[in-house]
Order: sequence, then C-alpha cells, then structure tokens
Amino acid sequence: MSKALFLHCSPHGAHSHGYSLGKQLLAERLPNHTLHERDLTAEPLPPIGTEYATALTSGQADHPALAVSETLIRELEQTDALVIATPMHNFTVPASLKLWIDLVLRINRSFASTPEGKVGLIRDRPTLVLVSSGGFHQGERARQPDFLTAYLRQALLTVGIVSVEFVYLEGMVFGPAAVDSALTAAHATVTGLRFPG
Ligand SMILES: Cc1cc2nc3c(=O)[nH]c(=O)nc-3n(C[C@H](O)[C@H](O)[C@H](O)COP(=O)(O)O)c2cc1C
Repeated sequence: MSKALFLHCSPHGAHSHGYSLGKQLLAERLPNHTLHERDLTAEPLPPIGTEYATALTSGQADHPALAVSETLIRELEQTDALVIATPMHNFTVPASLKLWIDLVLRINRSFASTPEGKVGLIRDRPTLVLVSSGGFHQGERARQPDFLTAYLRQALLTVGIVSVEFVYLEGMVFGPAAVDSALTAAHATVTGLRFPG
C-alpha cells in the first residue's frame, strides 16, 4: 500500500486552517494511502547541539547522535507522497520546521556535495506545501516579502525532491469571511493540480 507523510507545525494544532485543509485533501486525494502524521510543534525535534554537529562530519553513519536524523530521513524515503502544512512565521518557515530541515539535510546521507554543488540522494516524490499566513505575500495584495517559498523549495531540492507545489492560505487574520474565501480558493487550486500525479 502507498504511504503518505503529513508534516505540520502550526501552533494552533488541530484548529489550524492549514492542518484542517491538509487533512481534507489527504482524505480526498490520497484515500488509498497509509497516512503517517508528524506534528513538529506538539512533538518538537531536539535542537542541533555539539554532538550532532560533530557527528555530522565524523563519517560514522551509525553515530548515536544521528539517530533522530536517520529516523526522519527514513520516514521521508519510505513515503510516496508528502504533504506539508506550515504557517508563515516572520516571513519564513517556523523554527520547528527549520529544525526538521536541519536534521533531514545531511551531507553524505540525504545529499552529496559535488564540484557542481549539492546533489540530492533521495528519490523525488509528489509534494504539496500548504502555507498559511495572517497577511498577504503573493501578487498584488502582497505587503510583505515571502522568504518561505524559495527557501523550502531549495531545501527539498537539495535532497532530491523537485515535484513540489505550493498553495497559499493568505489573510487568515481578516475574519471568518476571509478565512472561508482563502480555504475555498486553496481547495480549488489543489483540485486543478495533478497531485499526487
Ligand atoms: C510567531 C509568529 C509569526 C508570524 N509571522 C507572520 C508573518 O511573517 N506573516 C504573516 O502573514 N503572518 C504571520 N503570522 C501569522 C500566522 O501565519 C497565521 O496566524 C497562521 O498562519 C494561521 O494559520 P493556521 O490557522 O494554519 O495556523 C505569524 C504568527 C506567529 C505566531
């Protein structure tokens, strides 16, 4: 049976609009997938400490300090489709998702450093990223920069994941009508995508 990994990190937990839309889309688009959820806020990952930083360059793939990183990378390798629901925090990804990135992007494990640059060592897989934000950062209504999209795209590309679609839930602090309209628009956008292919 195919597997789907749902990574989410809103501090609003089950009340998060991004999380709710993610769950709905997983049920609609990937009904035959076994779902694995990882809540990066409710179950925070360990911060990057001296041991991890040292182990990274030790060449010891089975170093105990790499155990969490290994678990996360295997989780990613074993999934057929990836869905990420993330809020925008101060124009980019929340710290909890940044930590996942720091643990998953591991030299000589999930990517290799070559004279031409970093090359991903993980197979590509369809990925949907739902980004929720209080304000607007896309198109004519944008009143702030978006450092999230390019950064997260680059992080996923680094390990080899290139089939990534970003869908936005913007203006989530402008009341129930704005929330409804953002959810309807985001749902329609995903309906028009070939996700998961
Ligand atoms: C620490 C913090 C930083 C935030 N930074 C931004 C920001 O830079 N831009 C923005 O539009 N909204 C910002 N917000 C608002 C959240 O993006 C918004 O409340 C959230 O995405 C709602 O989505 P959810 O219902 O999926 O949790 C921030 C919220 C918090 C808690």
